Amino acid sequence: MSRERYIHSLLTLSHLLICTFTSLVAVNGDTQKEFYIVFLRDQAVDDVESVHQTHINVLSNLKGSELDAEESLVHSYSRNFNAFAAKLHEHEANKLSSMEGVLSVFRNRYHKLHTTKSWDFIGLPMTAGRKLKMESNIIVGLLDTGITPESESFADNGFGPPPAKWKGSCGHFANFSGCNKKLIGAKYFKLDGNEDPSDILSPIDVDGHGTHTSSTLAGNLVPGASLFGLAKGTARGAVPSARVAAYKVCWASSGCSDMDILAGFDAAINDSVDVISISIGVLPLWGDYVTDSIAVGAFHAMRKGIITVASAGNDGPRMATVANNAPWIFTVAASGIDRQFRSNVVFGSGKTISGIGVNIFDPKQKLYPLVRGDDVAKNSASPDDARYCFQESMDPHKVKGKLVLCQIGMWGVESVVKGFGGIGAIIASDEYLDNAQIFMAPATAVNTTISDTIREYINTTRSPSAVIYKSQEVKIPAPFIASFSSRGPNPGSNHLLKPDIAAPGIDILASYTPMKSLTGLKGDTIHSKFTLMSGTSMSCPHVAGVAAYVKSFHPNWSPTAIKSAIMTTATPMSSRVNNEGELAYGAGQVNPTKAVSPGLIYDMDEMSYIQFLCHEGYPESSIATLAGSKSINCSSLLPGVGSDALNYPAMQLSLQYQDTATGVFSRIVTNVGPSQSVYNATIRAPKGVEIIVKPMSLHFSRTSQKRSFKVVVKAKAITSRQIMSGSLIWRSSRHIVRSPIVVCGP
Ligand SMILES: *[C@@H]1O[C@H](CO)[C@@H](O)[C@H](O)[C@H]1NC(C)=O
Ligand SMILES: *[C@@H]1O[C@H](CO)[C@@H](O)[C@H](O)[C@H]1NC(C)=O
Ligand SMILES: *[C@@H]1O[C@H](CO)[C@@H](O)[C@H](O)[C@H]1NC(C)=O
Ligand SMILES: *[C@@H]1O[C@H](CO)[C@@H](O)[C@H](O)[C@H]1NC(C)=O
Ligand SMILES: *[C@@H]1O[C@H](CO)[C@@H](O)[C@H](O)[C@H]1NC(C)=O
Ligand SMILES: *[C@@H]1O[C@H](CO)[C@@H](O)[C@H](O)[C@H]1NC(C)=O
Repeated sequence: MSRERYIHSLLTLSHLLICTFTSLVAVNGDTQKEFYIVFLRDQAVDDVESVHQTHINVLSNLKGSELDAEESLVHSYSRNFNAFAAKLHEHEANKLSSMEGVLSVFRNRYHKLHTTKSWDFIGLPMTAGRKLKMESNIIVGLLDTGITPESESFADNGFGPPPAKWKGSCGHFANFSGCNKKLIGAKYFKLDGNEDPSDILSPIDVDGHGTHTSSTLAGNLVPGASLFGLAKGTARGAVPSARVAAYKVCWASSGCSDMDILAGFDAAINDSVDVISISIGVLPLWGDYVTDSIAVGAFHAMRKGIITVASAGNDGPRMATVANNAPWIFTVAASGIDRQFRSNVVFGSGKTISGIGVNIFDPKQKLYPLVRGDDVAKNSASPDDARYCFQESMDPHKVKGKLVLCQIGMWGVESVVKGFGGIGAIIASDEYLDNAQIFMAPATAVNTTISDTIREYINTTRSPSAVIYKSQEVKIPAPFIASFSSRGPNPGSNHLLKPDIAAPGIDILASYTPMKSLTGLKGDTIHSKFTLMSGTSMSCPHVAGVAAYVKSFHPNWSPTAIKSAIMTTATPMSSRVNNEGELAYGAGQVNPTKAVSPGLIYDMDEMSYIQFLCHEGYPESSIATLAGSKSINCSSLLPGVGSDALNYPAMQLSLQYQDTATGVFSRIVTNVGPSQSVYNATIRAPKGVEIIVKPMSLHFSRTSQKRSFKVVVKAKAITSRQIMSGSLIWRSSRHIVRSPIVVCGP
């Protein structure tokens, strides 16, 4: 198996985010047509019917017949943006894009999806102060694989009726037991109309991903949760009193399409959720801020005061892989907590090693014969294939009763070995060993340094033997950034630091679906109400939960203010554990209780973001997809905006080829702490970088008062791919407001 394919299967099977490059064809036999999303200039229409009619009119003009128009229209997005989805030939799409009133036309693509101790670890204990009444008015919306309504995490004991502002709904759906006062909304979107044989046309979660993320964000307290005794504790979300609305936009076989993602945003905004959590990734090289469905949806959410929290992606540790990288999205990297699942492996020689992964099986014997995959190859098979323990390459007779050492080719080989009457597998891999794979038969994963010594032991021993013990939790140094977590620099803009923040995303215990086995692999029949998952998919709902928590204290704060509060109070992380520094973790590890009281905030409104897009060189015509009817004149917006044209709580200066550079960052902070406050600046400048702040002291005499300042960063030439980390801290007697300052090499 090629390396590409191996990584592909590895990520898919561990529920990690990847993106497929296929663009599915619209319908059978209609191979020339594809789905497109069309944005139109905003119009002053306020009923859904007339919006629909304007879309029909546009298509009628294109097609020359209203009947053809009706047939090709797939969906009219309702009120938050003027757009529709349609099934068109490519030449029709091209023609449409030059028509009057049409802002943009882009092809629909399909994306893939990218407890509970983690809350205690980041400092949100069960006893943390809460505004319970406010919290129960918070509605969190998740765009995901749906939800499991019967899960205890979403039971409604003690909940009152939904908040008055709630405009959503929950109907009767196939295999869906219904909503309640905790799970107040459930909808699904599958606009391509193609059947998905592995899924059910209903908000029910057959995958487990949506149930897991939703319970991490807002699940009830469920005592005694564990995965067969591992990770035992009380499972809970950040805001257990908040309400949950599920928008299913991801499907088992086809993934998550742009059309459905946009429809999910449209509905969530319409339904008046407070926070949107989306653990789905659009590969960054695919688009820009005006054609990426998540960026577009999140922009419209932001206009309505709704914060969108999204996963950074699982394409690390490669650089420049961070997804969901628009400035109005809150982009979350995955960190590790201080717990790892390890299994001891004891050999006939008496030697013991420690493998990684979740093995829930106790051995029945003291030792088992140990062989290499290539030792048990079918006579006809190439030993190279047998090294990977692929089903078709091994001889069942030779496997029976044995433990097999396999090179990683694909997860699930322990099940193949067991199917042949074998005992289990030791799996050799050099990547992704920071998160635990769940095994269906006795197995553990080791790195190739260790597997080399095992091979040598097998080679030099007459009857090699070993045994794998049940996994145990061990304490490890933390936090650190997961190897899989996507890294900056931001491929969307070299003026903007991404990811924004880090939160736990390795081996997170949360609720699961009864409709899928633990691994979802062929041959697995083990089910559990809770399971461990890893990915930025898991870190995202942690931060979405903290955003909901902050909002329960400050219901009127803008999405940007909430994000600023969470970033400036994050616990700094150290570049000693990650070479990529802030490009791996942004402002640092989220700190929920500090985020409630940030002292100062860096706020922005819609126009600030539009100004940023102008500064990035987006033409006014494409900005219109986001701005709607607002007429934009970039040349009037640009003067005096500084190096990044943002009021961001982080600063990034990117050096081009080996020259020196100066960045000037204009910032405005708003006082949300005590009315009378003085903040003094503390600057930490990396070697060779000069950072000046003017003024060095900010005096406030009332709350909501604004003060502006400038940060000038002068950097000498640095080597390619180097990153240097500094910071600016505004310190008062009560608050510490910290912003990372990053200088990146070319
Ligand atoms: C869904 O419901 C139908 C009808 O009740 C039933 O036949 C089917 O087995 C259910 N599917 C799953 C996966 O439970
Ligand atoms: C938005 O809300 C209106 C009523 O307020 C409703 O008619 C419409 O169908 C909703 N749209 C979506 C996508 O839910
Ligand atoms: C393999 O794991 C062992 C023990 O955990 C460790 O000492 C060694 O450095 C690792 N080797 C590699 C190449 O990561
Ligand atoms: C074990 O033996 C095989 C062939 O019998 C050889 O290819 C391999 O290099 C040996 N490995 C070690 C670690 O000695
Ligand atoms: C845009 O703004 C610039 C500078 O303020 C002005 O000169 C120009 O006339 C404006 N363009 C339009 C189309 O209004
Ligand atoms: C800020 O600086 C001023 C003048 O240097 C000093 O008097 C004041 O105590 C400082 N305040 C804080 C909170 O450090």
